[in-house]
Amino acid sequence: MPNPLVIDTDPGIDDAVALLLGLACPEVRVAAATTVFGNVGLATTTANAGRLLAMAGRTDVPVAAGAARPLVFPQAQRAGEVHHEDGLGGRADTLPTPPPVHPDGAVEVLAGVLRAADRPVTLAPIGPLTNIALLLASHPELTPKIGRIVAMGGAISGGNTTPTAEFNVHCDPEAAHRVLAEESVPITLVPLDLTLRCAMPGEWVDRLAAGGPRCATLAAITEYYRARFRARRGVDAVPLHDAVAVLEAACPGTLRTEPMHLAVDCAPAADRGTLRVTNAGGRPVEVAVDADISALHAEILRRLLTIDT
Ligand code: RIB
Ligand code: CA
Repeated sequence: MPNPLVIDTDPGIDDAVALLLGLACPEVRVAAATTVFGNVGLATTTANAGRLLAMAGRTDVPVAAGAARPLVFPQAQRAGEVHHEDGLGGRADTLPTPPPVHPDGAVEVLAGVLRAADRPVTLAPIGPLTNIALLLASHPELTPKIGRIVAMGGAISGGNTTPTAEFNVHCDPEAAHRVLAEESVPITLVPLDLTLRCAMPGEWVDRLAAGGPRCATLAAITEYYRARFRARRGVDAVPLHDAVAVLEAACPGTLRTEPMHLAVDCAPAADRGTLRVTNAGGRPVEVAVDADISALHAEILRRLLTIDT
């Protein structure tokens, strides 16, 4: 029986690939998609999640909207320049109209999935960690129902939003510190250091595009990101950060991890949102440090190609 998986997401181009990948992994059953502010505003991330599920023919998966802003300070910056202002590379209007959003909020839908589960639930936050922090603070009695959290975020050596901070953590450093440093739930963190190394080459995208209509739509969504990466890095590739995390969530052990005690710099200063490796107590975070990258590329492609069968 597949394990329940909830993807908490801010679609987002790489979120789009990650969400479709989760649906294509037989090891898991996507019990819900919960949305959060991040790359673009909450209304857009929520509509995008619904559009993507409708495109995949999976409107059976509920979409529940979560936090529209961080826990403490206002979001410092969005990522419309990376994902387009529509969040999906300018292709949002090529996707179906989103179905109605679940009447309950993300935290209550997450809690409902945990209460109903008869086996450990995996949570895969691939945006800011605000919803997860709120869930763990509001329903500590449900943490034993969480098998593992697999989060994309943070950077050990060099950020993408500031010189030291990665976007998801930088969006809500207090939430990230809460989840990574103060909670006891087992967590695997997939940081930018590894996801950048796992960027898919251009020919990978071309093979996805040739896979059928849904795959072609997904490949078209990534083109905006691909063009920007090529222009800024001089490499024909597209970093699908969130898809790397979702493959690990579905297939534990895909990534090689090392235990680290982490904290997040929350001071309102230049280093805000920076991940710190500490010697503190508490449960260590399993930080993904390496992977068989060509095997990972092949596995993600192989699974995505099944969405058109
Ligand atoms: O830093 C990469 C992360 O920030 C990804 O989750 C991407 O979607 C953006 O949200
Ligand atoms: Ca994301």
